Amino acid sequence: MKTEMRSKRFERLRQRDINKEVFVSEMPELGLIVMDSPGDPKPSLEIRDGRITEMDGRAEAEFDAIDRFIAKHGINLTHAPDAMAMGSLEIARMLVDIHVPQRRVMQVFSGLTPAMIAEVMSHLNVVEMMMAMQKMRQRKRPYDQAHVTNWKENPALVAADAAEAGLRGFAEGETTVRVARMAPFSALALLVGAQVGRPGMMTQISCEEALNLRLAMKGLATYAETLSVYGTIPSFLDGDDTPWSKGILASAYASRGIKSRFTSGSGSEALMGYGMGFSMLYLEIRCLLMVKGAGSQGVQNGSISCIALPESLPNGVRGVMAENLVAAALGLEVASGNDAMSSHSQMRKTAKLMLQMLPGTDFVTSGHSVMPRKDNLFGGGNFDAEDMDDWLVIQRDMQVDTGLKPVREAEVLAVRRHAAKAIQAVFREMDFPAITEAEVEAATTAFSSDDMPDRESIADLAAADAFLDSDLTALDVVAALARAGFEDVAENVLEMQRQRVLGDYLHTSAVFDEDFNVQSAVNTPNDYRGPGTGYRVEGKVWDDIRALPQAIDPHALVEDEAPDPGLDLAPIGPAAAGDGAEVVVALGPAFASVMNKTLAGLSHAEVLRAILDGIAAEGVAWRVVKVWHGADLADIGLSGARLCGSGIGIGLQSKGTALIHKKGLAPLNNLELLSMAPNLTLDSYFALGRNAACYATGRAPAPVPMKVDNMARLRLIVHTTLLHHREVRQIDKARSVEEMKVTFR
Ligand code: 5AD
Ligand code: CA
Repeated sequence: MKTEMRSKRFERLRQRDINKEVFVSEMPELGLIVMDSPGDPKPSLEIRDGRITEMDGRAEAEFDAIDRFIAKHGINLTHAPDAMAMGSLEIARMLVDIHVPQRRVMQVFSGLTPAMIAEVMSHLNVVEMMMAMQKMRQRKRPYDQAHVTNWKENPALVAADAAEAGLRGFAEGETTVRVARMAPFSALALLVGAQVGRPGMMTQISCEEALNLRLAMKGLATYAETLSVYGTIPSFLDGDDTPWSKGILASAYASRGIKSRFTSGSGSEALMGYGMGFSMLYLEIRCLLMVKGAGSQGVQNGSISCIALPESLPNGVRGVMAENLVAAALGLEVASGNDAMSSHSQMRKTAKLMLQMLPGTDFVTSGHSVMPRKDNLFGGGNFDAEDMDDWLVIQRDMQVDTGLKPVREAEVLAVRRHAAKAIQAVFREMDFPAITEAEVEAATTAFSSDDMPDRESIADLAAADAFLDSDLTALDVVAALARAGFEDVAENVLEMQRQRVLGDYLHTSAVFDEDFNVQSAVNTPNDYRGPGTGYRVEGKVWDDIRALPQAIDPHALVEDEAPDPGLDLAPIGPAAAGDGAEVVVALGPAFASVMNKTLAGLSHAEVLRAILDGIAAEGVAWRVVKVWHGADLADIGLSGARLCGSGIGIGLQSKGTALIHKKGLAPLNNLELLSMAPNLTLDSYFALGRNAACYATGRAPAPVPMKVDNMARLRLIVHTTLLHHREVRQIDKARSVEEMKVTFR
């Protein structure tokens, strides 16, 4: 019987995270194609008497409701004739060209049809899209948005997590609910907690749209972002919506001073069964022109909840970046996705993130979980609490900023506790079911909602219903906070309400800084024009980003140590040439004087003793010398070898790196090298001594036992550098090699 041949490497590859994903080839009929579908229309535009009579190959009479909305509200007819007359390649080049200002590109984009915009994107590779995003992003400084939820829907934990999100620098935070009726309490806890962590952090709750609007009107949310739009009519109708109904909803939010943005993104239409032969990007561009036409300041896109679908297709990540870029080029604020789980593979997740993180978008993620994954009620976050330090290190590595900064454990505990206490006081003052001391303490230190006591959910839901139906608003929350002695929090919650009246934060891309100043595309526009312009990570922001709490202070590692008490090394004059079958052990200049242990933490006394014992075990004599003129290991070893009767020298640096050298060999051509000091044990040093003795007497050496730790260099390279610096500091070029008297104590 013939057995099928299998590769063990392929078997291993099949088990990798990346191969848990489903990949599929394109099927344009179903809309399973990211860009450039054969079903996408060709760009065209005809304007007669101030109205669009043909768009992308379709006459006005054949327009569907989306075409009609876009033709009426989404395209600037002043700029359209010139813009459409330009070649798509020329426009693509304008996006990338630092000499063409952002405003000029926006003007051109304001006059383009959906098919024309899709054609422009087809010319760009991902690096060009990133270059373009760096220029087209609306706000000068990028920020990030937090997801704040928990499985138990515990308000003390929501408040504590919101406060931590604020402290970390998130400019917005959103919550959602597992049980819809909890919405008023989750929104309330998020609002109060956020104002503890970072005055001015905007909050919102994602829930059914009418409820969403009611909660916002009560002052329990300061922004809204779940006004979904879709690129084909049947998808829209499934949600009982039209571009007009969404536009009315957007106006309702604006009329009450509530910032809002739409949600759209690749894949939703195909997922709902109505891809209709179009590419995902083409349909998304239709969505963005509706968002623009509805007068919204921005959008969260980048496929959002559908991300796994474009990612199953060729070009998926590129297409999703293209949709972020189109939004920015249309002058919209962009919260650029990276919120829903996008891959099993950490490598793939991070690679995708770079497209938005490196150029910077208004919000690099549309939701970055400040809790562990299982507490994320948005279906598990793409990046969560456990990824936080990775994120901060990447910011530091690349000198990029997403508004997040490293935080200290004590500060985090303090704001979490204050937030939990504040929401406890609000619940008490407003006669809601009590939040216990135990809940406050658990919320302060919790990893996840598993660490929280259970609440009476029936009582919570009844109280939440009553709160929703009552006339109570955020102002009553302010009063409750003030009565209970939380004036600081009360003031911030009140200020959020005052800002709704002022309305400055309704401008494109608006966020508040920590002093409640609006930063938006109007007063802090992105003015990127190439190197030396635009947003630069510098000053306080850079100081914060680079000061990782886990960074060690190198000063402490370059101080001299006390000599090793187990070993006395006394110079007894210049070293002389020896004779006979001896081995000379040559030490680095800091050995057992200002340094006393190796990188592996072995004391100089025990290391030297192991080597000498190894030599003696072969019945060979030894001498110990100290080299002062240099710290290079080959030089140290060769200096010993040259003085040695047998011509065999062992070189030993103070950090523990060692070799066997032989008189007459080129410096870099030694007999044996133990280059990875952290992997060496006393057995290794003993074997090194034994082998040197073997070379001296012509016997066969045996391999030196060594631990294999491939990560040792990674873990210890800083220590290696600093330890070696201390050795180099002891160099005395004028001093000759000295014979040493060795006494072990
Ligand atoms: N297109 C449109 N709406 C989307 N949402 C998520 N992804 C998309 C998308 N690609 C909406 C959901 C919900 C909110 C979280 O965002 O329907 O309302
Ligand atoms: Ca979001």
